[in-house]
Amino acid sequence: MRGANRVEGLSESVIREMTRKAKKHDAVNLSQGYPDYPTHEKVMEEAKRAIDEGLNQYSVTWGREKLRKKVAEKLKRFNEINYDPEFEITITCGSSEAIMSTMLGLIEPKDEVLIFQPFYENYVPAVSMASGTPVYTTISREQELDREDIKEKIGKNTKAIMVNTPHNPTGKVFTEDDLRFIRDLCIENDVIAFTDEMYERMIYEGEHISLASLDDMWERTVTIGGFSKVYSVTGWRVGYAAAPKEMMKPIRKAHDYTTVCAPTPFQEGAVKALDLPQDYYENMLEYYRNARDFVYENIKETKMDVSKPQGAYYMLAGIEDYEMNDVEFTNHLVKDKGVAVVPGSSFYHEGGKDLVRFCFSQDMDLLEKAMERIKD
Ligand SMILES: Cc1ncc(COP(=O)(O)O)c(C=O)c1O
Repeated sequence: MRGANRVEGLSESVIREMTRKAKKHDAVNLSQGYPDYPTHEKVMEEAKRAIDEGLNQYSVTWGREKLRKKVAEKLKRFNEINYDPEFEITITCGSSEAIMSTMLGLIEPKDEVLIFQPFYENYVPAVSMASGTPVYTTISREQELDREDIKEKIGKNTKAIMVNTPHNPTGKVFTEDDLRFIRDLCIENDVIAFTDEMYERMIYEGEHISLASLDDMWERTVTIGGFSKVYSVTGWRVGYAAAPKEMMKPIRKAHDYTTVCAPTPFQEGAVKALDLPQDYYENMLEYYRNARDFVYENIKETKMDVSKPQGAYYMLAGIEDYEMNDVEFTNHLVKDKGVAVVPGSSFYHEGGKDLVRFCFSQDMDLLEKAMERIKD
């Protein structure tokens, strides 16, 4: 094909492919991160109201003012970071677009972006589409950072470090010590940070700390978040990026020319979501904690080597004791057992062939069915 471009070298999303396979084989889908926790009635009503009242056209490109103000309030209260909603917050089509617009806006050819593997699979294509170069460091199976390796990988071309806490797929919640280590490196080497905090409300052990809240990090961090998982609205496509005005300017340009704006009625729903009372978060956490414990206990009864996640809703399991690699194992599971999970190698630049990822964001009936099938 003529006109090779930056997407040509990218492989297709394995996670989305597993969802298609799950449908084909009528399997329980524990691959893609669909949250099964019910969307709050009031949040849905608000989006419906917006449609009925005629809010069906483009919003202001950066997002409706009332949502930017709400996000700013949340960032102040929950994340302990101050942003000016007028210039420093942009509402995007999901956090995926916030990640993409951040890379397109701030990464230039030859810039390197340090990525922790295993990684959320959109980071690498986003860096590549921005003509940057991803550089990898590995989080160990014990969920430790390799600090020596990270120091070695940061060089004169390193522009940014991509942090994700709570982390998909390991479930690691970065400690204050981890984040202070990253902070020191960013300052010493004049590196900026992108932090994806999608799962900030899903923490079973530890606490959520935003990198931008650490001293001297605000000015060099883009904080990314979204509504998809915490409020069970993955199809609404509403997320945000927050950063100092000068960093936000190019991100806003990239956002404007890629998506124009996030869906207007769903921005209205998102405003309502940020008004939900504390018990919404407590109940949701309880729901996912039960799911985590149930899946963990069941997988432990198999030959898989599983570690308990501290946050988010994924679990990595080692399959060393089976005579299959990750792709063979997941194909066997989806076709012969009727359970879809994701091959570990899709989260690694190199490695992960001895791992698979379970997503436990499903209803207990489905999890029971899946676990019965797996243990069978
Ligand atoms: C770590 C992480 N970041 C971002 C996203 C994308 O979410 P959104 O629906 O907001 O684009 C996901 C989705 O699975 C994720 O796991």
